[in-house]
Amino acid sequence: MANVTPILTIDGPVGSGKGTIAARVARRLGWHLLDSGALYRLVAIAALDQGVRPGDEAALIRLTKTLDIEFSQEGGEVIATLDGLDVRKRMRSPETSDMASQVATIPGVRAALKERQRAFAEPPGLVADGRDMGTVIFPDAETKIYLTASVEVRAQRRHKQLKEKGESVNLSRLSRDIEERDHRDMNRTVAPLRPARDAIVVDSTALSIDQVVEKIIALMKDRSITD
Ligand code: C5P
Repeated sequence: MANVTPILTIDGPVGSGKGTIAARVARRLGWHLLDSGALYRLVAIAALDQGVRPGDEAALIRLTKTLDIEFSQEGGEVIATLDGLDVRKRMRSPETSDMASQVATIPGVRAALKERQRAFAEPPGLVADGRDMGTVIFPDAETKIYLTASVEVRAQRRHKQLKEKGESVNLSRLSRDIEERDHRDMNRTVAPLRPARDAIVVDSTALSIDQVVEKIIALMKDRSITD
């Protein structure tokens, strides 16, 4: 059955720019936004706080099912709360990132997050960014983008982003972390990162964020999904 709500999915690896691009496209279209990575990050933070090991699948699935989370907007920024606490500062730390990609390999954790993600599809439309938006969560989405870029450029972008947040991370360590996470995300048995068969692949290595945003908006206009 076709989606009643139009959906644009943007999948891609770490640092491909999809988070920023999805947020900008959603704002331009006046559509809702789903940052699915934030859900995995919140599971990771809860697991770290509760001392649950990445190998303890049963405990992680239990924790995911009972996760008390909320998203709100403040001046264009999305604030994630976990058990009523603002965890914004911890969302993108290397520790959280690493744990998130580990918990994301567990099928029961992914299954427990499925309906939460689908519930974001509300009129007038949804822009969903992640790894499996076009392949698993919204397979009927009208427009699917797979955003990619070279590892070097992605590491530099992430480095800049963390620096702006006052976090100091070594660039070569960041490259290594990114390659490790890419490998894990692309080779897991459940919902591995790959372009959907009907996805449009956009390589953003030589493109600015603005150029990618314009490209996507133009594509939506071409397809008469927006005016
Ligand atoms: O996109 P972001 O970097 O915030 O995602 C954090 C981690 O969550 C990723 O490395 C990936 O392992 C996992 N993830 C996923 N499926 C998604 C979104 C994120 O497996 N749809």
